[in-house]
Amino acid sequence: MKTMVNVALPKGRLGEKVYDYFKKAGFECPSIEETNRKLIFENPEKGVRYFWVKPSDVAIYVERGAADIGVAGKDILLEYEPDVYELLDLNIGKCRMAVAAKKDFRDPKGTTLRVATKFANIAGNFYAEKCRDIDIIKLNGSIEIAPILGLSDVIVDIVETGTTLKENDLEVVETIVPISARLIANKSGYKFKNEEILAIRKGLEEQVRIRG
Ligand code: PRP
Repeated sequence: MKTMVNVALPKGRLGEKVYDYFKKAGFECPSIEETNRKLIFENPEKGVRYFWVKPSDVAIYVERGAADIGVAGKDILLEYEPDVYELLDLNIGKCRMAVAAKKDFRDPKGTTLRVATKFANIAGNFYAEKCRDIDIIKLNGSIEIAPILGLSDVIVDIVETGTTLKENDLEVVETIVPISARLIANKSGYKFKNEEILAIRKGLEEQVRIRG
């Protein structure tokens, strides 16, 4: 029997794109394309078992070995610093992590900067490097509201098209880091299923190359 590689895919729009890469790379799983609420799908012939998980949870499944490989955003990898191997940049799900603020914002130097974010670790590291004293206000979503209501001076958040900022009269102050989706692997899974994982990596790499 073929060795099964367990793959955690991020549920949602990005996940569908990611699955398409796996499919075109030769690791299809027809049952995944039937619309239902199932979360686990496998194709023993191809040696793959997929499961849909929340995008921000992919790294946890992989780090703990419930999945051998998975696809996670670089934002999640930078924020949670999971102990996994990063095997490939899929060059999709592209956006950037940025500092944004109200249009008339001027950094109140000499005072503590109030930073609202979902990404406390990324924001903390960014300002620590600048030796800037900050107060992190950890939120779980709709971060853009914070500076509008005076809860924070700036936000650290993901900017994709820039529409959310624009429609809320905010603008990027500084880009922190570009983000894209990455193929990651569990460290022992990578060792014990090396051949299978490398075959998947090779197929995906080819897809990245073809699609530019
Ligand atoms: C993300 C991010 C921004 C928005 C940026 O939010 O937090 O709010 O997308 O995209 P844009 O530049 O294309 O407008 P998400 O949709 O993940 O929801 P959230 O409010 O839960 O963070």
